[in-house]
Amino acid sequence: MQKRSLALRAGGFKVVFVPTMGFLHDGHRELLRVGRERLGDKGALVLSIFVNPAQFGPKEDYGSYPRDLGRDLKIAEEAGVDVVFTPKAGEVYPSGYKTYVEVMGLGDNLCGPLRPGHFKGVATVVLKLFNIVGPHAAIFGAKDYQQLQIIKKMTLDLNLGIDIVGVETVREPDGLAMSSRNAYLSPGERKQALCVPSALESARLAFASGIRESSVLIEKMKKNIEKEPGAVVEYIKVCDKESLVDLERITKDALVAIAVRIGKARLIDNCILS
Ligand code: PAF
Repeated sequence: MQKRSLALRAGGFKVVFVPTMGFLHDGHRELLRVGRERLGDKGALVLSIFVNPAQFGPKEDYGSYPRDLGRDLKIAEEAGVDVVFTPKAGEVYPSGYKTYVEVMGLGDNLCGPLRPGHFKGVATVVLKLFNIVGPHAAIFGAKDYQQLQIIKKMTLDLNLGIDIVGVETVREPDGLAMSSRNAYLSPGERKQALCVPSALESARLAFASGIRESSVLIEKMKKNIEKEPGAVVEYIKVCDKESLVDLERITKDALVAIAVRIGKARLIDNCILS
């Protein structure tokens, strides 16, 4: 992959990269569409599919994470991907592997404390993939807002010179954010999962009506989630959209982020209140 990318760059191609863990859905199709748009006259779109063990905790779903490489390759072809990179875990982390990357601070709130080591695993694999794929630009979904902020910061701090592009969350027609982990939801749980987008909508409406206190917005969202007895709130937060530090009151653009467990699925979603 590295040789191929160096040759592409030497030949004047723009390399645009979409890193994924596979089990592709319309959200990934949108990342690939945005990637293709960025190629210009002479470019190569690279997709990686790698379920990264370093970003899963010991009790998390690394083993059961949905995988379907055959289907993913078809989607990649339809989406006009030029190169698919599918390394094995033992190639990315050979025995004796010792080096990890950590972006300080941005992992201290939201998913960070609930998934210790997760963002260290994400930053490490993304840096490794960047070094292998050598992209001019890389595309990430805004559903994983905290991940996107961490990758932007790592890219800036380590002078990687890669254009990091965030793409708006793609939703099912009923509002549920697309995610490979939605595959864990039973039909009943799938209906319950709508409490997540409706909680965000309740925050948007309350904000539009003039409410600025985070505690009031959070209480409204909690009430939406509590309507579904099977839904367990992990966090509901109103934060500064750059530093991800909790806000008591909204005085500038704010991130509203939510994590809820329904059955085996952990669902995250967010919106910006401007
Ligand atoms: O968002 C994902 O799919 C993963 O966290 C990523 C960025 C591909 C790193 O493994």
